[in-house]
Amino acid sequence: MTRLLHRITRSRFWRSIFRHGWPDNPLDRTLVMTSNLFLHLHPVKVSRLSLKATYTFGLGLITLILFISLTMSGFMLMFYYSPTVERAYPSILNMQTTIPYGQIMRNLHRWGAHLMVLAALLHMLRVFYTGAYKPPREFNWVLGVGLLVLTLGASFTGYLLPWDQLSYWAITIGSSILAYAPGLGPALQIFLLGGQEVGQEALTRFYALHVFGLPLALAVVASLHLWRVRKDGGLAVQSIASGNTVASESLGTVYAFPVVALIEILLTLGVSLALVLLSTWANAPLLEIANPYLTPDPAKAPWYFVGLQELLEYGHPSLMAVLAPGLAGLFLLILPYLDPQPLGAGLWFTSQRGKRIAAYSALYAIAAVFFFITLETYILPRQLMQERLPQFVSLIIIPGGLLAVLVILPTIVLWRFRPERREMLILLFTELLVFTAIFTLVGWFMRGSGFQLVLPWLAKVGLAHRV
Ligand code: HEM
Repeated sequence: MTRLLHRITRSRFWRSIFRHGWPDNPLDRTLVMTSNLFLHLHPVKVSRLSLKATYTFGLGLITLILFISLTMSGFMLMFYYSPTVERAYPSILNMQTTIPYGQIMRNLHRWGAHLMVLAALLHMLRVFYTGAYKPPREFNWVLGVGLLVLTLGASFTGYLLPWDQLSYWAITIGSSILAYAPGLGPALQIFLLGGQEVGQEALTRFYALHVFGLPLALAVVASLHLWRVRKDGGLAVQSIASGNTVASESLGTVYAFPVVALIEILLTLGVSLALVLLSTWANAPLLEIANPYLTPDPAKAPWYFVGLQELLEYGHPSLMAVLAPGLAGLFLLILPYLDPQPLGAGLWFTSQRGKRIAAYSALYAIAAVFFFITLETYILPRQLMQERLPQFVSLIIIPGGLLAVLVILPTIVLWRFRPERREMLILLFTELLVFTAIFTLVGWFMRGSGFQLVLPWLAKVGLAHRV
């Protein structure tokens, strides 16, 4: 077998493409890495620690694989989809019922899109909690935040295309949230919808952004992101000897070819198999054709914006849809620059104390959100407050002040223990994460008819109306 491989890789044809032989010695392995466009993404050797499954969980690569798979399934869907108000819904129906493999292709695309948002979010958590945003990787974190926004944009614009009740109303609500941004909001709404309402103009623009603008931007920024991983010295790993973050050399290393290449191939096969199984098991939802005169009850934004929709229940849009998420976004963006110390990167939670801070802040944040929701919904006399107090006080000062106190309170407690900057960031990031997660879950599972707060099993919203 090896002789055969040697023969093939020594042939003139092979060498005209790859220029190296069968890699059974260090020199050939090095040549394989440096002379191949795809393998050149890796250094010749990589640290064993960075390959540990429980370090990265392969989440960055999984996000990338999902992006590539979405590009392929989306390309196939374009053969049959018509982006007009009259033809969009029938073309999806046609795809599902008469085109061979049309239903599964649609399922692959729909489930892949949800999974990509989820994988990008989880990858961000992994990067944060392992301190992999620390110098020299600050800018790659910023590029990552850009990728997350583009991923959300790609998913949001695709949501409208089936033109059913779910997509029509989710986008109507989602875009009305966008319109609250001061100054930019209405302009953004007009840019996206081509008017005040979701119609043919909106469908054309969403289609153009979904099939061309956003995937192109994603491809460009993702390439930059991967190039930066390579240029920043590979993944951040912890040196056992010095406690410093180092590039791979001083630790146990392995050749990237074939070890990393094999891991990547296996991960690609695993993700593809899981996606195919999921798409065989569950069909992408398709409700009745969009009807602008019939609002579903409850009408919900896509799941990743339901947290924002939920927040809007407690205060003025300029606070809940603009200021609060704006501050959270700004915090995410500048986060690596608030923690300039490279020490402690590459290790989950950096220290035992970091781990405890994350656990306690998560528990605190769960209690704090439920306290906020209960107080705002059942205890404060909201009706009376809105009648007696100026709007500025009842809808901005009171809920905003309450949220701010709940966020700041644990930072004051931690301050007394002289925390490192990293520890303070762990506290704030965990709070932000848990607040977002709980508001999303409450909006998703505990809002029934009239968007009233009910117990999850009384919400009576089928899965087809949620995803
Ligand atoms: C479309 C979305 C994204 C893709 C395709 C992607 C892809 C990747 C890949 C393949 C890696 C190397 C392997 C790994 O860490 O698993 C990586 C590393 C990294 N990513 Fe992402 N990423 C995305 C989004 C994000 C986000 C949202 C953030 C943070 C806000 C982020 C920040 C980083 C950083 C700082 C590194 C270097 C980590 C280290 O050195 O350990 N990425 N990304």
